[in-house]
Amino acid sequence: MTDYTEYKKLYLLCFTDDTEEDAELLFKNVLSKAKMLCEYNEKGLPIAMLFLMDASIVNNGKSSDYYYLYAACTHPDYRGKGIMAALLEKAKQTAIQSNKLGVFLKPANPPLFKFYAKSDFSPYFNVCKINMSADDFIKSNPPELSKAEAITMEEWYDTRKDFLNSINSSYVDFSKEILITAADGCTPIKAEDFGFVYELRDSLFLVKEALCTKGNIEKLLGAISYILKTTNCNTVEIRLPPLLKDQLTKFGDVLQPFSVMWFSPSANQSYENNGHHGFAFD
Ligand SMILES: CC(C)(COP(=O)(O)OP(=O)(O)OC[C@H]1O[C@@H](n2cnc3c(N)ncnc32)[C@H](O)[C@@H]1OP(=O)(O)O)[C@@H](O)C(=O)NCCC(=O)NCCS
Repeated sequence: MTDYTEYKKLYLLCFTDDTEEDAELLFKNVLSKAKMLCEYNEKGLPIAMLFLMDASIVNNGKSSDYYYLYAACTHPDYRGKGIMAALLEKAKQTAIQSNKLGVFLKPANPPLFKFYAKSDFSPYFNVCKINMSADDFIKSNPPELSKAEAITMEEWYDTRKDFLNSINSSYVDFSKEILITAADGCTPIKAEDFGFVYELRDSLFLVKEALCTKGNIEKLLGAISYILKTTNCNTVEIRLPPLLKDQLTKFGDVLQPFSVMWFSPSANQSYENNGHHGFAFD
């Protein structure tokens, strides 16, 4: 069995917001089961790495296989030498050999979209992102919570698919383990016509995924408002599928790039890109 001690050290050196506990959970539940591509120095220590996890994209009820790329990082002493660019090329070859239709990932911050573009990863999934003060959100969305209940992330795994299928959205279907690990510390709420998963991040009320059936956006926003009001959060961020864009016009232009994709040569890229990425590790 691989000893991940040195890889965890590299991870924590590069992703400074994460705690040792975060890294522990991530490696135990997800990264140890993913395909790891790595570069080593002369002492045999890892200096750059990335992980490829199986993920499907469901489109019109048809599921296709992709890789979701996570934890790409290079040791600070070795950056700017093309090491990550070379690992990204290896990731593409691995995808082709494993019959995956592509590789996608969420850049950790907006400037990184340019970095991935150099390796032919183009913006692909969008997200509707509402970002405002908690007070303003509560004022413009009357709090109301009707017959909703807290559920487990295991239950959310199926619930999200039901909602996404009901609005005919193409979407990323992660494994249960990935979804549960990415949602560590989150609470999923479900009602008949809507559901959402939220996390309290200091003063931020972060709704990592919010979904509803057709015509029920106001119920969804009212329920978020209701729970937000019970917290001390100053700001709220809500992430919704791009297909709900037209129902969110009161918030202005909410559509933003979310993740990037490289398609393998065998992929049919013709379908419309209104798909929903949803969860990511962030
Ligand atoms: C991003 C990262 C993986 C690049 O690794 P690397 O081995 O230095 O990459 P390369 O040498 O192939 O390419 C370096 C290029 O990336 C650019 N780059 C690095 N970090 C960047 C950032 N945050 N925003 C924009 N560009 C960035 C460099 O400016 C450089 O550009 P150049 O080729 O025009 O000189 C590395 O900086 C890193 O580990 N960062 C911290 C962890 C992280 O954010 N990972 C990405 C998760 S999505």
